[in-house]
Amino acid sequence: MNDIRQGHELTPEGIETRRLRIRRFLPSDIDDLLAVVSHPSVAAETPNIPHDSEGLAEYVDQQNRLALFEPHACVDFAIERKSDQRVIGLVTVVSNGNRQGEIGWGIGIDYRSHGFATEAAQGLISYLFDAHNYHRIFAGTIYTNTASWAVMERLGMRKEAHFIKAHPPTMPEGPWIDTVRYAVLAEDWVDGRRIEKQGVPTS
Ligand SMILES: CC(C)(COP(=O)(O)OP(=O)(O)OC[C@H]1O[C@@H](n2cnc3c(N)ncnc32)[C@H](O)[C@@H]1OP(=O)(O)O)[C@@H](O)C(=O)NCCC(=O)NCCS
Repeated sequence: MNDIRQGHELTPEGIETRRLRIRRFLPSDIDDLLAVVSHPSVAAETPNIPHDSEGLAEYVDQQNRLALFEPHACVDFAIERKSDQRVIGLVTVVSNGNRQGEIGWGIGIDYRSHGFATEAAQGLISYLFDAHNYHRIFAGTIYTNTASWAVMERLGMRKEAHFIKAHPPTMPEGPWIDTVRYAVLAEDWVDGRRIEKQGVPTS
């Protein structure tokens, strides 16, 4: 992985991975972004993002005025595919102001099953640890979103919790849903993956 980093700014070139660039939004991204966020699977996870061109343009403008990793704000970044410069998805960071942050991801329906979410998350996590001195990064999802916790598993994040019936039903008369929480510490992140450390012998 070849991240482009410059001081503590996310440069216009963004965080570069093998196939992707994670960067702030451009006004020219609106059409691609609309296609990504309009799909019901992404829309359900991004209730804060408008699903019409005008609203989305305003949203992108607001996003670009947020400080990078502004504490307690949902800060979204475009995932651009380098081969054709299309925006194929987005990653999100919610920092808690204490060198910890929650990350999330959404990939356009036409671009799934190529490892793009995993690759983008690897780049973002490495950047947060290396350029911003983050201590811990976590992610969570409802248990039924197997595609999302599969990304956490592929990243090697540690499963920290499984909460029972912690999410309200997503359908009328549906059941309460379990949720899972995964995390990774900076000290365990090596070359884009969490490395299991050898246990210290107790005797
Ligand atoms: C969650 C979501 C981002 C996962 O997308 P995804 O494409 O399945 O995940 P990845 O990009 O990591 O791709 C993994 C798949 O690509 C395959 N793959 C191909 N090349 C790969 C590579 N180089 N590296 C890793 N995986 C690769 C994997 O085998 C896996 O295949 P599978 O789909 O058959 O299991 C997607 O389902 C989505 O956007 N959902 C809607 C939004 C959402 O739910 N977000 C999460 C909220 S918590």
